[in-house]
Amino acid sequence: MTMREQIEAAAARYPDQRSAIMPALVIAQREHGHLPGPVLEEVADILGVERMWVYELATFYTLFHTEPVGLFHLQLCDNVSCMLCRAEDLLRHLEEVLEIKKGGTTPDGLFTLSTVECLGACEMAPVMQVGNDYHGNLDVVRIDALLESLRAMARQVETVEPAAVRSPGK
Ligand code: FES
Repeated sequence: MTMREQIEAAAARYPDQRSAIMPALVIAQREHGHLPGPVLEEVADILGVERMWVYELATFYTLFHTEPVGLFHLQLCDNVSCMLCRAEDLLRHLEEVLEIKKGGTTPDGLFTLSTVECLGACEMAPVMQVGNDYHGNLDVVRIDALLESLRAMARQVETVEPAAVRSPGK
């Protein structure tokens, strides 16, 4: 099913097409890996809504990416509970070991590093989301072990199916 067909099927469930923008963006990002301008315009055109409405939602929510992201998107919470548990130190450590700044992607395309608002898992602060998984009670040692396991996972995927590593989000 094409992206247009998927979006049209999802949109049929909503009487107001503005309500379908979020599910449409989820579909578009799943199809393209991220949401560049032309994709946002296509979503707006399919739904018949203002392009600005689509752009506003795509840039407001951290689950949507208007720029390409690495195979593993490291989303470190820097809200109050995590900040009190030294999330800032972890951010500095991640920037150092990955040799990128917050918002950046490693040259090999493996990691994108972001900070996000509360992940709703304050009881295990500091917390980082990677894909759909939460990693809590983090410290530098656990971060390093996590990065190593993610690298190992990427090597394994590359061995099985090289295209899977080169096409994040697919
Ligand atoms: Fe970090 Fe709530 S403040 S998970």
